[in-house]
Amino acid sequence: MTEPAQTFYDAVGGAETFRTLTARFYAEVERDEILRRLYPEEDLGPAERRMRMFLEQYWGGPRTYSDERGHPRLRMRHSPFVIGPFERDAWLRAMHTALASIDSDTMDDAHRQQFVDYIEMAANSMVNSPL
Ligand code: HEM
Repeated sequence: MTEPAQTFYDAVGGAETFRTLTARFYAEVERDEILRRLYPEEDLGPAERRMRMFLEQYWGGPRTYSDERGHPRLRMRHSPFVIGPFERDAWLRAMHTALASIDSDTMDDAHRQQFVDYIEMAANSMVNSPL
C-alpha cells in the first residue's frame, strides 16, 4: 500500500511553523506605517489567527478556516481596503521577513521557493487600486 503524499504543511513543520510565520508577519504589520493603518481592529490577534488558519488550510493542514469563515473569497474580503502597489509591496516585505525567520532545517529551499511563488502571485491578485 502506498502512503499518501506528505503535505506541504507537514513537510515544513506543521502548526508550529505557521504559528511562527504569522506571529512574525503581524509583528511587521504592527510596525509598518503603510500596513498598520489599513487593519481595522486595534487588536491584531484575531487577524493573525484568520491568516494562520487560512495558510494552514491552503497548504494542506487543518480546515478550521473554512469551518469558521466559509469559502475564503479573498479578493472580495479585501475589497474594503485600498490595495495598490505600495500596499502590496509592504505586505510582501512583511511576509518575506516572516519567512526569513523560519530556519532552513525547518523549511528547505524548494519549499521556500514554492511559498514565495505563491505569496507573490496571491499578493498581485489582491491589488484593487492603481495607486
Ligand atoms: C484580511 C490586508 C494580501 C490573506 C486582511 C485584512 C487586511 C488585509 C487589512 C483585514 C484584517 C482582518 O482579518 O481583520 C492585505 C493587504 C494585502 C493582503 C494590504 C496586500 C496585497 C493578502 C494575501 C493573502 C491574504 C496575498 C493570502 C495569501 C488574508 C486573510 C484575511 C485577510 C486570510 C482574513 C480574511 C477573513 O476575514 O476571513 N488582509 N492583505 N491577504 N487577508 Fe489580507
